[in-house]
Amino acid sequence: MKLATLSHPGGLEQLQVINGPEPSEPGPGEIRVRIHASSLNYHDYAVVAGAIPTEDGRIPMADGAGVVEAVGVNVSEFQIGDHVVSTFFPQWENGPAPIDNFTTTPGDGQDGYAREQVTRPTNWFTHAPEGYSHAEAATLTTAGLTAWRALVVNGGLKAGDTVLTLGTGGVSIFALQFAKMMGAQVISTSSSDKKLERLKTLGADHTINYKAIPAWGQRVLELTGGLGVDHVIEVGGPGTLPESIDAVRIGGHISLIGVLTGRAGEVPTAKLMAKQARLQGLIVGSRAHQQEMIRALEANNMHPVIDRVFPLAEIADAFRYEESGKHFGKICLEF
Ligand SMILES: NC(=O)c1ccc[n+]([C@@H]2O[C@H](COP(=O)([O-])OP(=O)(O)OC[C@H]3O[C@@H](n4cnc5c(N)ncnc54)[C@H](OP(=O)(O)O)[C@@H]3O)[C@@H](O)[C@H]2O)c1
Repeated sequence: MKLATLSHPGGLEQLQVINGPEPSEPGPGEIRVRIHASSLNYHDYAVVAGAIPTEDGRIPMADGAGVVEAVGVNVSEFQIGDHVVSTFFPQWENGPAPIDNFTTTPGDGQDGYAREQVTRPTNWFTHAPEGYSHAEAATLTTAGLTAWRALVVNGGLKAGDTVLTLGTGGVSIFALQFAKMMGAQVISTSSSDKKLERLKTLGADHTINYKAIPAWGQRVLELTGGLGVDHVIEVGGPGTLPESIDAVRIGGHISLIGVLTGRAGEVPTAKLMAKQARLQGLIVGSRAHQQEMIRALEANNMHPVIDRVFPLAEIADAFRYEESGKHFGKICLEF
């Protein structure tokens, strides 16, 4: 079977697509899956680019979707032919988060899904949504579940709430879609006027070019009659958090998700305190959260926005495309 590996110390030129050994027959409680698709996340990029150190020979990609082709004994949840999608934290089944690192995450601390076949315990997968392509299903593991947890699990999003999304990457576009699906008002930002037009077609009620309007937090206040938004999908980190604090309403909720502008920086703590806002850090979600999200996707027939699909052999080009920032929503691999 074909698989991609990353040689130490990382870098896109260190990615190689090779023929690897066949996976083992599934043992008790295990399934073998023919992986047909993966999707690219900023975290996967950080791994393959060498910014997050990983083992020599690591198989990258946290997201994987495909078809169950063999089941071991004692497996009742899955049958041969079922369409499945991988879980980001296989050992986090439900309840509060038990882990604060990526040692158990496929494509980082463990081998991931840039491969045609894999044998794993059943908790490494859930059923995929009915009617989804494999590429669509693959977008759920990381980006979809992060947006779902931020807004629904932690945020308690309800109809009529206001949501602010930053940029047009995978997490932010999912957040826009979930927010509209659940009857919220959405303000979305981007560095590109062309992308702002696309955001409107997805239902964004207001858009802001964050390059043209650096004080976009104030602009959000104006657009909300001085109140601010109920939820912020904070994917930028230190470079955007001060504006997000300006933009949030008193008692609102900021999901601290991303590191697009860096990993540490100054936070206007007094302003955050005065806003009495909840700043919640999070990493993706549990297997139970994934199952709840998938039920909601099926009930609403919501499908992710896929910008472009590359074959596995072009994995390095797919990451170069992500690096260029030209994408809107998700970039996928199909194999
Ligand atoms: N904590 C978690 O569980 C979790 C899960 C998934 C992702 N993340 C993090 O969330 C971030 C986004 O991930 P992703 O996979 O969605 O990334 P992505 O698909 O690569 O999205 C990148 C997009 O972000 C926007 N952007 C870049 N710099 C920005 C800035 N200064 N202000 C506002 N928007 C900016 C750009 O949109 P425009 O071109 O429209 O300007 C860019 O296209 C990353 O830092 C990632 O590590 C965290």
